[in-house]
Amino acid sequence: MTTETTPIQFRMVRYPHAGQVDGVWAMTRDALPELREDEVMVRISHLSVDPGMRGWITPKRSYMPPVQPGEVMRAFGVGEVVESRSERFKVGDWVTGFTGVQTLANLPANGLRAIRPDLAPPQLFLSGLGMTGYTAYFGVTDIGRPQPGETMVVSAAAGAVGAIACQVGRIQGARVVGIAGGAEKRAFLLEELKVDAAIDYKAGDVAQQLAMAAPDGIDVYFDNVGGEILDAALGQINRHGRIVVCGGISQYGDMDLVRGPSNYLQLIAQSARMQGFTMRDYIDRVPEAFMALAGWRAAGKLMFREHIVKGIERFPEAFDMLFAGANNGKLLIEV
Ligand SMILES: NC(=O)c1ccc[n+]([C@@H]2O[C@H](COP(=O)([O-])OP(=O)(O)OC[C@H]3O[C@@H](n4cnc5c(N)ncnc54)[C@H](OP(=O)(O)O)[C@@H]3O)[C@@H](O)[C@H]2O)c1
Repeated sequence: MTTETTPIQFRMVRYPHAGQVDGVWAMTRDALPELREDEVMVRISHLSVDPGMRGWITPKRSYMPPVQPGEVMRAFGVGEVVESRSERFKVGDWVTGFTGVQTLANLPANGLRAIRPDLAPPQLFLSGLGMTGYTAYFGVTDIGRPQPGETMVVSAAAGAVGAIACQVGRIQGARVVGIAGGAEKRAFLLEELKVDAAIDYKAGDVAQQLAMAAPDGIDVYFDNVGGEILDAALGQINRHGRIVVCGGISQYGDMDLVRGPSNYLQLIAQSARMQGFTMRDYIDRVPEAFMALAGWRAAGKLMFREHIVKGIERFPEAFDMLFAGANNGKLLIEV
């Protein structure tokens, strides 16, 4: 046995009702059962807080089954193995996977992947060198496929996936236009990410701002938000343009009232394509994404911004931050 303090878990005790997440979470302090064969006990150091969690607590058909009431909330995490009954990992190894929102967990070893904290800080395997980075990489290079000189527009561009998508787009030679909320995020896009133009969607009509920022139209639109911004982008999509449907956070508030794009007939008029995806499609190509992202980072072409909230007790507050735009970069909890 290890000398751990009592573990903390965050459980989803009921599904949100009419978009309200109040009363959805409960913090528990349940001791762990005995470790079973092929399991490892992991002391979790960092958790990823993702907009996709909103879908995981919605009892609807999706790419993963919903979390069941009473279960520990699903989350990606990284941590250190403190006890092992698996041949795959030994005590002291660092791993990543679905750890759940908890401080300490007994996890099946076959659901975990080894990480190398000697190569990069462990939380980077949840942000730029993890699923966030891979999502941006495949969304841009495999679905959007911007060609040199083409215009690529990215929404939620100052966020985790968006900021990496902007930079990968520039590396591919595209002219990149970022959209984010507020003057500070707009300045970050221009000064730190070095996008070619940036729009503050809270500062005025998005269609008008887009027409100015992308005078030659939009060849690739990397969509993280859906709603009115997607409609504005559809209105200016070029012939044979590509819309990468990565997310639709403006619609996550009430999953029973999701509104589709009203401007979708532009896809016909412009022979344009709109394609969704999840990382499930690319699991076999993770090493390719890792090598590319790590290489660009080492070459100084790619930066990752992280927003770290300290203390697992702040999980409900951190979750709400995503929907209020209160995060600056990849939102993580340092457990
Ligand atoms: N397909 C996949 O496999 C996959 C994987 C990961 C993430 N995603 C999706 O990618 C998107 C971004 O995720 P992330 O982890 O990178 O989060 P993030 O961008 O770091 O954080 C979410 C951001 O969304 C913006 N936002 C919130 N409400 C909005 C609204 N009503 N209208 C416009 N913007 C709004 C906020 O930025 P502002 O301050 O700029 O408004 C907020 O900071 C999400 O839609 C997520 O579901 C998809």
